[in-house]
Amino acid sequence: MEDKINQLLHEVENFRADALENVEEFRIKMLSKKGHISELFNDFKSLPVEQKKLVGQKLNQLKNFTQEKINHLKQTIEEKSSQQKTSENYSDLSLPVDFNHIGSRHPISIVRNQINSIFEKIGFVISEGPEIEDDWHNFSALNFAQDHPARDMQDTFFVEKDPDIALRTHTSSVQVRVMNNQKPPIRTISPGRVFRNEAISARAHCIFHQVEGLYIDKDVSFADLKHVLNHFAHEFFGPDARIRLRPSYFPFTEPSAEVDVSCPFCKGDGCNICKYSGWVEIMGCGMVDPNVLENCNIDSQIYSGYAFGMGIERITMLKYLVNDLRLYFENDVRFLKQFANAF
Ligand code: DAH
Repeated sequence: MEDKINQLLHEVENFRADALENVEEFRIKMLSKKGHISELFNDFKSLPVEQKKLVGQKLNQLKNFTQEKINHLKQTIEEKSSQQKTSENYSDLSLPVDFNHIGSRHPISIVRNQINSIFEKIGFVISEGPEIEDDWHNFSALNFAQDHPARDMQDTFFVEKDPDIALRTHTSSVQVRVMNNQKPPIRTISPGRVFRNEAISARAHCIFHQVEGLYIDKDVSFADLKHVLNHFAHEFFGPDARIRLRPSYFPFTEPSAEVDVSCPFCKGDGCNICKYSGWVEIMGCGMVDPNVLENCNIDSQIYSGYAFGMGIERITMLKYLVNDLRLYFENDVRFLKQFANAF
């Protein structure tokens, strides 16, 4: 009987199979009721007692070894066939394309492109500048006094001190670069990312986007400024939009104003978006301060100009009713895919 056990052990060791059917046949041959191993168990009953211990151990070993071998073979064959199936899927070039995964433009890009195109149509060209700026372009040339609070560490991310290098706090720095490098007439808009040291919340973020506008020529007046802003409001918010200017202060413009647009949601009747005033603030503007022109080597006796600057997040919020600034930066596809049909 021991010989028979060794012979079967050898057979199990050498057994190979590529298909599940073969494994099943082998299992029936060995382990089914009438299989070789089961027959040995029957013969075992009639063995003399002194042989039972040793033969019994060997028989159990054979049975366990056979069962393990069968399980192992089954598992390897199944894994192989599932791998084959996936690679067949990829290699079938005739399968229809899955259109569900087309991305969408980011709402900030959509609105930036709309603003760009409104101004490009009336002769403005796009200019860009660096996000890491020196003190001169971000503050000094723009007439910020040495002790102006915006220069404070609390507002500005400094990269280096003495000489001061910082992440630009507004895109107005680009107007300095343009005026330094070009002769009037200048008609440009500068979209870009800006940085301020703010705690992140629904209403404030340390990164956001602005568009700066600049027009320098002979005889540019405040009426020209008002006209172009009115044109922008009609193009962007629709023909019923109205604007109003409120006196304000910026170091680089004199006079300066804040621009409000009639609330795009309630059309001026009052709602919670405009805090029941009928107006929402959308940008700052003014006539370029003669000091700024002189700082950039433009003769303020001959030339004058206007500038304006708006936050893209804010304008986007008014267009698409986004009420939390953090949504713009989290790249949550559930938010982003809502803009799949916008351009
Ligand atoms: N730079 C201003 C800011 O970041 C925005 C601004 C206001 C730009 C008035 C201008 C302007 O060009 O004339 O708050």
